[in-house]
This record gives sequence, C-alpha cells and structure tokens, in this order.
Amino acid sequence: MRQYILLNPGPVNVSPRVQQALLRGDLCHREEEFSDLLVAIRSKLLRAFAPQGYTAVPLSGSGTLAVEAMISSALPEGRKLLVINNGVYGERMLRMAEAHRIPAVELRYGWTERPNLSQIEETLRTDPAISAVALVHHETTTGLLNPVAEVGAIARRAGRQLLLDAVSALGGEDLDLIHDGVDLCACTANKCVQGLPGVAFVLARTEAMAAMQDYPRRSLYLHLPLHWEAQERRSIPFTPAVQAWYALDAALDELLEETVTARVRRYRAAAALLREGFARMGLKFLLPPEYQVNSLTSLFLPEGMTYQRLHDNLKERGFVIYEGQGKLQTGIFRVANMGHLTLDDFRRFLGALETVLAA
Ligand SMILES: Cc1ncc(COP(=O)(O)O)c(C=O)c1O
Repeated sequence: MRQYILLNPGPVNVSPRVQQALLRGDLCHREEEFSDLLVAIRSKLLRAFAPQGYTAVPLSGSGTLAVEAMISSALPEGRKLLVINNGVYGERMLRMAEAHRIPAVELRYGWTERPNLSQIEETLRTDPAISAVALVHHETTTGLLNPVAEVGAIARRAGRQLLLDAVSALGGEDLDLIHDGVDLCACTANKCVQGLPGVAFVLARTEAMAAMQDYPRRSLYLHLPLHWEAQERRSIPFTPAVQAWYALDAALDELLEETVTARVRRYRAAAALLREGFARMGLKFLLPPEYQVNSLTSLFLPEGMTYQRLHDNLKERGFVIYEGQGKLQTGIFRVANMGHLTLDDFRRFLGALETVLAA
C-alpha cells in the first residue's frame, strides 16, 4: 500500500522501530512476559509524564475509552461534574456524564473562544455539589489550547478535582500535572505519544485513584479502579490488544530518549514552519496565534476551493489533510503536525500545497 504523510490529528505516522515492535511475537496475556510488559509501560508512562504521587493505567481501546473511564469513575455518588465545553470533545464529555447518569453542569463557549475563568470560579463557588471540573487540553475541533494551569488553580482553590482530556495534547504541549493541578488525565497512544491505535491510558493522582474504589461502579468495563487494582498485582482484567501495547512500549522508549521537552519543542518548531508557509500563501487562520496549539492548525478554505478538491489533490501528491468537524465541517481544513515526521516532510507539504492552490 502507498505510504502517505499523515497530517490528520492521529493516527500518526510512526517510526520503523514502533512498527517493528508489532512483530515481537504472539503472547498470552496471562504469562509473566505480559506482566513484565505491563509493568514496563506503566513505569515508562510515569517517567515520561507523571512525577511522584501519580499512577498510570493503560487500557485497550481508543482515546474516547480512556476519557469515558475517567469521567465515569471519578465522581462520588450524588456529586456533579462541571464540563467546560468549547468544542466537540468538551461536548462528548457532557454526553458521557449523561450516559452514566452523572449530574452535569455545563459552561458552553464558542468554538473559537477560551473559557471565562471568572465564570468557572463563580460556578464552583455557588454550587457546592460540584466535585470535579472536566476540561479538554487541546480542543482538536479547532486546535485551540485551553488554559489548563489557570483552570487547575481555580479548581484547587475551590477544593475540586480537575479531569483533563489530554488525548491530543500529551507529548505535544507543556503540561506539569502537579503544578497545573491535574488530578486525572486521559490520553491515547496514537497521537503525540507516537504509538499505534488500540491502547490508551489514564494518569491519576494515586490518592484520587484510591478514593475511587469507594465510588459507584457505573460500568463494568470502564471502572478505573478495577483495572488499577489488577495492574497493581501485575495483571489485567480483560484481554488486551497485546501488539498495540508492544508498539506503545517502543514509542515510550523513543519518547524518553527524545525527552518530552524536546518533543514539545519539535512540534512547536514544525507548527511555526507550517504557519509561516500558510501566511506566505495568504491562507487565513481560524484562531489567533495565542490560542493555537503546537500540533494542529485550522485554516479557512480559500475562495472557490472545496475541501474535497484540496484533499484529493494533496493526497495524489502523498499528503493526507483533515476536514473540519461538526458545525465547522465545511469552510475550514485542518493540518496536524504530529508523529514521526521531519521539517523536510513539512517543507515538501508546503510545496505541494502551493502547487495545488496555484492550479
Ligand atoms: C481531545 C480529544 N479527545 C478525545 C478524542 C477521541 O479519541 P479517539 O478517536 O481515539 O477515541 C480525540 C480524538 O481526536 C481528541 O482529539
């Protein structure tokens, strides 16, 4: 099959080393070798992202599974979740709360707006039944960076927890779980972590995870403490996607070698190069520069150009871009810079884009 440069926000192009990990061989998840793999992945996740006081729970499934495990497990009986909603993924967390009969309070903002911090503070002050705030770090709908540290500080001052959907952010944005006041954080292997689809994970303050053992079990499969308790015993409750876990193990080795700081810097440099090129071509950005993440750029389609035509012409040249989503499905296109790609790949993409636009 032809290989494409993937400029969609996951799944991403991975290195030959991560691809090779798929071939480590067949393995029964009840054998010692799998327990060793589980322990290795959990400890590498903590080394990469979580300082002392946190625990890591890998789960087989996509990013949505990790976010839903976090949302459905983290609320005590009768307490409410405050959802900050400024895009498709904030909206999805609200739907998850509804699905699990968790009472939710929504603060809704435009898709190109940042949340209003005083309103969050006021909502927590006036509603003592709220026990946690749910926020998306990188709202992938638009490539908008939400103010995690600011919301974390508000939640901490108010004695509430912060649940973060960092599915498209972790590894691509600066994040300090302790400093930023993040109690639980959900992520996937196949975006900025540069692994393959099929495995996701939750990072949690160990105390918060232990407290969840007494919370209602709203789902059998998604209940985080069930997975955590088994993993603490070097086991897992259900059959894992073993080969995807191998790939995550290799991707974490690469990440630790590169370092998270250097990866964030690499993504930022790639985004800067792309944005310079877009501006030179006269393309218009959906978001102002200070709102933009390091790994995705949303652009208005130029006059007279359809998404389909742009997509197909670029795909012919080896590049896969991404369309808008929801109410932004038409009118914009998205270009991600996640994965095992070099500045040269992005330069070649800019060249192809310029040719397609000129034609
Ligand atoms: C912020 C965010 N949350 C959740 C998801 C859902 O992840 P998945 O499609 O892997 O279930 C995505 C996917 O793009 C995302 O960007």
